[in-house]
Amino acid sequence: MIAAQTGAEVVPVDVTASGEVDLAALAELLDGRVKLVALAHVSNALGTVNPVAEVVALAHRAGALVLVDGAQAVAHNPVDVQALDCDFYTFSGHKLFGPTGIGVLWGRRELLEAMPPYQGGGEMIETVSFSGTTWNALPYKFEAGTPDIAGAIGLAAAVAYLEGLDRRAVAAHEDALLAYTWQRAAEFPGLRRIGSASRIAGVFSFLVDGTHPADVGMLLDQQGVAVRTGHHCAQPLMARYGIPGTVRASFALYNTLDEVDLLFAALEKARVLLV
Ligand SMILES: Cc1ncc(COP(=O)(O)O)c(C=O)c1O
Repeated sequence: MIAAQTGAEVVPVDVTASGEVDLAALAELLDGRVKLVALAHVSNALGTVNPVAEVVALAHRAGALVLVDGAQAVAHNPVDVQALDCDFYTFSGHKLFGPTGIGVLWGRRELLEAMPPYQGGGEMIETVSFSGTTWNALPYKFEAGTPDIAGAIGLAAAVAYLEGLDRRAVAAHEDALLAYTWQRAAEFPGLRRIGSASRIAGVFSFLVDGTHPADVGMLLDQQGVAVRTGHHCAQPLMARYGIPGTVRASFALYNTLDEVDLLFAALEKARVLLV
């Protein structure tokens, strides 16, 4: 959208066959003209945990800023924006068990100070006059209008809930679920994992030979197993793999090994019906 407004060009960076950002291709693109590199911390379609710190180092060396979409990362691992050294980090409240319609944009103070407000409304002004209006301090400059007070309280409760847990233990639990899932997947006839990056968080994306993901999803749903199917809002990525979409099982801290077994039992029934 910004490119349409400013005439900037959006250039995609390819991923490798395993679903990892191609760092060599990125390095080649960073020719000093790039203003902003945007990437997901964790891919919602494949689960790839992107090497954000490495991307940031490459981008900064070439004079570009980095915006990280952390929507899929925040529920799985603690995030340290200082360690990542990124310039902007975003996530949505509902991705970490908080309310919908609210989220977080973290940005480096000096960048936010330099940026104009994107919206007008209550609380975002310092002084108003017809000869010139000045803007309130951060964060009010970017929080025009009466805020989503209930949402903010709900989001803070969700953050406090997660921070009250042993985040390393949560991540280890989810990794154990994924490792068991991959083991079961390797034994399942005709199952093709999509994405096999060296670091994957929370997502098991796959296809079953001879079936359409939507059919598999419907038959799993009928057996009480909730998965997501389709392109996962990542159509260019699906095109990269030459597939219509995937079936995606998502794991969070509340899932169990028994549920992985239930998934594969339901998948076997779906396979018998479909193949
Ligand atoms: C990586 C990623 N970014 C952004 C979004 C969109 O979030 P929202 O619906 O809050 O805009 C999602 C999920 O829907 C996501 O997985």
